[in-house]
Amino acid sequence: MELQKSIDTVKIVTVEKVIDETPTVRTLVFSDEFLANVMPGQFAMVWIPGINELPMSIMVTQDKTKAAFTVRKHGLASTALYSVKPGDSIGVRGPYGNSFTIKEGKLLIVGGGTGLVPLMRLATFLKKTDEVTVIIGAKTKEEVFFEGLANDILKQNKHKVVVVTEDGTYGESGLVTDAMQRLLKENTFDAVYTCGPEKMMHKVVQLATEKKIHVEASIERMMKCGMGLCGSCCFGDVLACRDGTVFTGQYLLTNKEFGYTRRSKSGILENY
Ligand SMILES: Cc1cc2nc3c(=O)[nH]c(=O)nc-3n(C[C@H](O)[C@H](O)[C@H](O)COP(=O)(O)OP(=O)(O)OC[C@H]3O[C@@H](n4cnc5c(N)ncnc54)[C@H](O)[C@@H]3O)c2cc1C
Ligand code: FES
Repeated sequence: MELQKSIDTVKIVTVEKVIDETPTVRTLVFSDEFLANVMPGQFAMVWIPGINELPMSIMVTQDKTKAAFTVRKHGLASTALYSVKPGDSIGVRGPYGNSFTIKEGKLLIVGGGTGLVPLMRLATFLKKTDEVTVIIGAKTKEEVFFEGLANDILKQNKHKVVVVTEDGTYGESGLVTDAMQRLLKENTFDAVYTCGPEKMMHKVVQLATEKKIHVEASIERMMKCGMGLCGSCCFGDVLACRDGTVFTGQYLLTNKEFGYTRRSKSGILENY
């Protein structure tokens, strides 16, 4: 009953803490027991009063009563959300969407930018016996975030965090998929999980599939209702908000939109 209310109704919450992750990314922490305990991959719709409503992955915190969003300032709505101060109110509804399947064994997590948000929550769901490698991608050193958090969440696991920057100012130089290709030559994995820019995820899915490794990706599409009513998140023959956002590589490689096209705010199919 209470969960249904959380899904149907916009709740007004007060932002309690704002954490600067990078010069363009902030984490906003607020109290909400439902959103604090969602499955990895689930998202909420976030209303920035007077501006717009945006889909946001729900970030993990160390407190089971606190939820968070980690937002990169980009256009009007995300910049308004990024600019929220402690004490300000935002509206939230959710959780929506499915979640990553929890596999066991040797696991590879590949994240780019704010795509790391659902992957950090996923890491908290893994067994301590799993051997986990996390690849974190960013354009440049100052845009790297969650390296310390990933190490902290996985501290009881045998694990490795590999940071890759496009300009080579920190960690390995290149793209996350370069690091993934190298790791696939040296290791075997039981499952790969990815979230980030779609071109990146497309390559990750291809690389894992070539090696016959189970792979799942969380995709983004334009979302308005978040619950399968409006059709704005149409993704080939499925709705990203209702049928995803997490899909298997096996399905994604049959969806001709994946990695190539998406719908604009007015529903027009455009190239990536
Ligand atoms: C399931 C999901 C989870 C997300 N999680 C995060 C997150 O954790 N952190 C984060 O910073 N961003 C996240 N995003 C992206 C975020 O919702 C916005 O797309 C992004 O912040 C840009 O919004 P804007 O209005 O500022 O930009 P604008 O300049 O208005 O739009 C730029 C582009 O952003 C995308 N966009 C804008 N509005 C929406 C919308 N309602 N739904 C989907 N895409 C939209 C479109 O591709 C658009 O072309 C997520 C998106 C989805 C679908
Ligand atoms: S956002 Fe409305 S159907 Fe998915």
